[in-house]
Amino acid sequence: MKRLEGKSALITGAARGIGKAFAERYVAEGATVAIADINLAGAEAAAADIGSGAYAVSLDVTDQSSIDNAIAAVEEKAGGIDILINNAALFDLAPIVDITRDSYQRLFDINVAGTLFTMQAAARSMIKRGKGGKIINMASQAGRRGEALVGIYCATKAAVISLTQSAGLNLIEHGINVNAIAPGVVDGEHWDGVDALFAKFEGLKPGEKKAAVGASVPFGRMGTADDLTGMAVFLASSDADYIVAQTYNVDGGNWMS
Ligand SMILES: NC(=O)c1ccc[n+]([C@@H]2O[C@H](COP(=O)([O-])OP(=O)(O)OC[C@H]3O[C@@H](n4cnc5c(N)ncnc54)[C@H](O)[C@@H]3O)[C@@H](O)[C@H]2O)c1
Repeated sequence: MKRLEGKSALITGAARGIGKAFAERYVAEGATVAIADINLAGAEAAAADIGSGAYAVSLDVTDQSSIDNAIAAVEEKAGGIDILINNAALFDLAPIVDITRDSYQRLFDINVAGTLFTMQAAARSMIKRGKGGKIINMASQAGRRGEALVGIYCATKAAVISLTQSAGLNLIEHGINVNAIAPGVVDGEHWDGVDALFAKFEGLKPGEKKAAVGASVPFGRMGTADDLTGMAVFLASSDADYIVAQTYNVDGGNWMS
């Protein structure tokens, strides 16, 4: 049985990587999915790849009118929003003494304000419609503790966990479940960029950081985007109705909480 039959989902940052894998799985589970991304050409290519059931929407989560337009586009296309995944995010790396205000602002704008105000707009739409909904925020193991070179990104993901708790407690009275997924290290284009940054700051060869983090995962390897899709389906399904304000680690055993 398909677990998301007839549901309308909006996934931010779904042109590639984990968001795209979520979109593919949601469509396979019977949902209609808006692939919302600042990279509209990438979103269109992803939607074409996935086929009927997926469609592209232009979205910059740092821009309120762009958020409002994306929500309106999904309301018009699919009659409303049942599921939001706040997945768009940016990573950066620098020693504390080299962190710039530009990097701080950009990461907090996308990862924290983007998550909050997209969640707010989707929640308003869900409340108006009166059918409840599911909101899933993408946190990270980086939100569970600081890392020497990852100060800003870790702080943004800790903020996502905190916002998930507050929004979860606040919105459940409307039948809206807010929860989060905290992945560990997930291979893909994102981690290619992370690996290159570590190579620069730690004097490593390309691929060395990836190999090291993969080897240190208790499961024995880095995760794949597909490793996360089961949790994303579960949290969006009625099986998760009684789950409120939680952050689930899906990380091969890296973190316990
Ligand atoms: N890959 C990992 O190892 C890992 C680990 C823990 C958590 N996460 C989290 O999972 C989520 C997805 O990660 P990923 O690896 O697929 O990342 P990714 O970099 O591959 O994809 C991010 C997507 O977000 C889009 N985006 C960037 N800025 C945007 C904006 N302003 N508005 C709308 N879209 C925007 C990009 O165009 C891209 O398609 C992120 O929240 C990330 O922090 C990833």
